[in-house]
Amino acid sequence: METQSQWGSKLGFILASAGSAIGLGAMWKFPYVMADNGGAAFLVIFILFTMLIGFPLLLSEFVIGRHSKTYSTRSFGHLTGNRVHNLIGHLGNIGVFILLSFYSVIGGWILIYIIRTLFALVTGGKQQDYEGVFGSLISNPLYALGGQALFIGLTALIVAKGIQNGIERASKIMMPLLFVAFIIVIIRSLTLEHAMTGVSYFLKPDFSKLSADSILFALGQSFFSLSVGFGGMLTYASYLDKKTDLTQSGLSVVLLNILITILAGLAIFPATASLGIEAAQGPGLLFIVLPYVFDQLPLGQLFYLIFLLLFFFATITSSISLLEINVSNATKNDNNKRVKAVILLSIGVFALGIPSALSSGLLSNTKFLAGTFFDNMDYLVSNIMLPLGAFLFSIFTGYLLDRQIAHSELVTKPYQEPLFKIWIFLLKFIIPLVIIGVFLSLILK
Ligand code: PFF
Repeated sequence: METQSQWGSKLGFILASAGSAIGLGAMWKFPYVMADNGGAAFLVIFILFTMLIGFPLLLSEFVIGRHSKTYSTRSFGHLTGNRVHNLIGHLGNIGVFILLSFYSVIGGWILIYIIRTLFALVTGGKQQDYEGVFGSLISNPLYALGGQALFIGLTALIVAKGIQNGIERASKIMMPLLFVAFIIVIIRSLTLEHAMTGVSYFLKPDFSKLSADSILFALGQSFFSLSVGFGGMLTYASYLDKKTDLTQSGLSVVLLNILITILAGLAIFPATASLGIEAAQGPGLLFIVLPYVFDQLPLGQLFYLIFLLLFFFATITSSISLLEINVSNATKNDNNKRVKAVILLSIGVFALGIPSALSSGLLSNTKFLAGTFFDNMDYLVSNIMLPLGAFLFSIFTGYLLDRQIAHSELVTKPYQEPLFKIWIFLLKFIIPLVIIGVFLSLILK
């Protein structure tokens, strides 16, 4: 028997969806890639892609999820009567499993750093050799695997508690805290000497620095950071009542995601500028540059701890959405099977994640195709599966789904009528073309 869950409130749905969107994409990948790609110019392109490509795809996930009211590997065929269309759901279901396997590696690093920083605060120790410490931590299999296991365990605990008591409650606590913590760090960052150099770097666009690669990346980032293409937003919308306005909720999620992306820049760039440090330092920004920056300031360790917690909230509210997609498909929305599915899937994700966790240590010299095992998993998911999923979502909604279904889900007020037409146009023509263009340029490179 299906015991389909429901969100307790519209706010719960929006915060959980924003929680899924806001994660390593907006806060970890974005700042350093932006620093590499012309600062504010990259931000402008990213916002443009988010509004014209990410947002329409988000609405398409919402429409399919709420109308079918079922899990992602069944919803497509359920709406069109053709089970072949469910392959889109299967692609996403496999994609999120792989994604979580290496997403949790970074989640584990964050947890290890939280524990370290807490210790340092208690013992009053100052760090030195930031790069060396980071390198030795992530290359130590005990820490890498232990952190990853802990992160998956925490994710599993929340998902096991179900939609209202687990995911909704966690999002309602963590998302507001995320904003409060951000504001605290930003005030600290903006009141540093030379902070404005960082702000102007971040807000004054230099379009000459944009390359073809930056545009490709901005596009990929617009799917990744909105969690579209794998059916995560579809899954969350399947737990939604009929009253909630999808366009408004979608817009809230998109704006919150853009806001956090900007806040992350405002927290990081003034701090690095103040000490005259390059922000373009790859993933080490969070673990090497920022601890150094904060260590130079009064109460720096405390602010660094807040910063890490902020990352932890953002990461775990995304990982619970990843696991939830697998769980809803494995249980076919039967809540009686939830706990068992959570346990088995978590073990599976951890097992697949082992080589990724070891990619910075024992397996760091094992390289093929895109680099280490971790790099390959990331490449497969971010550059192939996710854009393919997004492409199929746009084709499905633009060409295969009954127009009336989409209309009944999206148009509840007269002003939404013209927006609906633009939405269909983008899904039918612009989005598939842009994605094909990106694929081709990747292959021909
Ligand atoms: N949006 C998440 C982030 O930016 O970290 C990643 C993500 C979550 C992608 C869920 C896809 C997904 F279904």
